[in-house]
Amino acid sequence: MQAFEFYSPTKILFGASTEAQAGQQITAYGGSRVVVVYGGASAVKSGLLERVLRSLDEAGLAYECVGGVQPNPKLSLAYEGVKRALSFGADFVLAIGGGSVIDTAKAIADGAATPEFDLWDDFWLKKHPLPGSLPVGVVLTIPAAGSESSDSAVLTNDETLEKRGLSSPFHRPRFAIMNPELTFTLPRYQVTCGIVDIMMHTMDRYFNPVTTNELTDEIAEGLLRNTIRNGRRVMEHPGDYQAISELMWAGSLSHNGLTGLGNKPDFAPHQLGHELSAMFDVAHGASLSAIWDSWAKYCVHTNPARFAQFAENVWGLDPSGKEPVTLAMEGIEAVRQFFRSLQMPICLSQLDCGVQSESTLEDLAYRCTFRNTRTIGSFQVLNYDDILAIYRLANY
Ligand code: NZQ
Ligand code: ZN
Repeated sequence: MQAFEFYSPTKILFGASTEAQAGQQITAYGGSRVVVVYGGASAVKSGLLERVLRSLDEAGLAYECVGGVQPNPKLSLAYEGVKRALSFGADFVLAIGGGSVIDTAKAIADGAATPEFDLWDDFWLKKHPLPGSLPVGVVLTIPAAGSESSDSAVLTNDETLEKRGLSSPFHRPRFAIMNPELTFTLPRYQVTCGIVDIMMHTMDRYFNPVTTNELTDEIAEGLLRNTIRNGRRVMEHPGDYQAISELMWAGSLSHNGLTGLGNKPDFAPHQLGHELSAMFDVAHGASLSAIWDSWAKYCVHTNPARFAQFAENVWGLDPSGKEPVTLAMEGIEAVRQFFRSLQMPICLSQLDCGVQSESTLEDLAYRCTFRNTRTIGSFQVLNYDDILAIYRLANY
């Protein structure tokens, strides 16, 4: 096994009605003045916001609400939240929602704890390490991004259309409340985006240059099999509590670091997808399914045996008498077919933005290299030319 460090301190409260514990959990973690962050409408419409606020009232907590977070959350709302948190004297931030709300809550917590810094210029552009943050708690409403137990937060700068993530140990929420019933109001499309994202957090770690961490690999393969099986069940039986519970737990485990211990995560498909979301505001899960097939076909020859292992252990494909590259290609096709069965896009024409001009692909590649200042990936390190080639492959 390779050396690693693992610290995933988020307390998980999993099960029906757990949201009623929000107030007492905040108190237990020292909060008394809480900024409550939520999204567009779903938490209000379902009555969840009201139930959680009641729990805060019962715990005697003061709170200030910041609603209206949109998918691919914007820096401008985070700035606004920081202002409100500072004038309110907040000492805790509670997110009620999915990745977009949680990441906005993390950013507000960062900004409120460090008013002398600029969120974007100093932290998101990594000119200065994040020195601290307010504690954050989460009531999760969608199994997808894994932000409820991850160390990262992803924001889009609405002026420059840059979508960037910031990882920090301060970004691990203190607690995450996960009641699978809260997901029953999700539109089908958001469930499928979530299934893709859970898989991609695992696959973006699984395809890496280190292949000597057997247990890490087996955890990743098991998580993927579980997500594929329960993803199919949820599609056939929306509202299947057991199946959505499995997905909710998988979503957290896929992105708290567990499925990548001891390796050097790749995350190139995520970086390629982020540029599509930044430019065209496409849903995160859709940006990933639209690019993965092209990434895989471009990179498979770097290590066909790894893709063959994936085909056999995740998709149950028979290796007998096959060259690794043949089995590898069958595994890639299995992913493609699965994404199609979820009605998720596998190329640009299936995204709302459609097929792009060559100059737009060049712009995407340029942005993805942070203006020619970085490469991406570890399974295969990708430079500007590689990135452009992958966008071209997906452009049909
Ligand atoms: O705003 P509302 O009305 O709540 O609607 C949301 C939103 O439109 C809706 N929704 C959420 N829970 C619902 C619900 N609708 C009905 N019932 C419910 N129970 O779903 C839509 C999408 O929500 P969003 O929070 O954007 O989804 P997701 O959890 O997929 O988060 C995506 C964001 O997380 C980032 C992505 O880049 C994207 O910005 N990520 C964050 C990561 C992290 N912090 O660790 C890692 C990921 O790789 C990802 O990059
Ligand atoms: Zn993701």
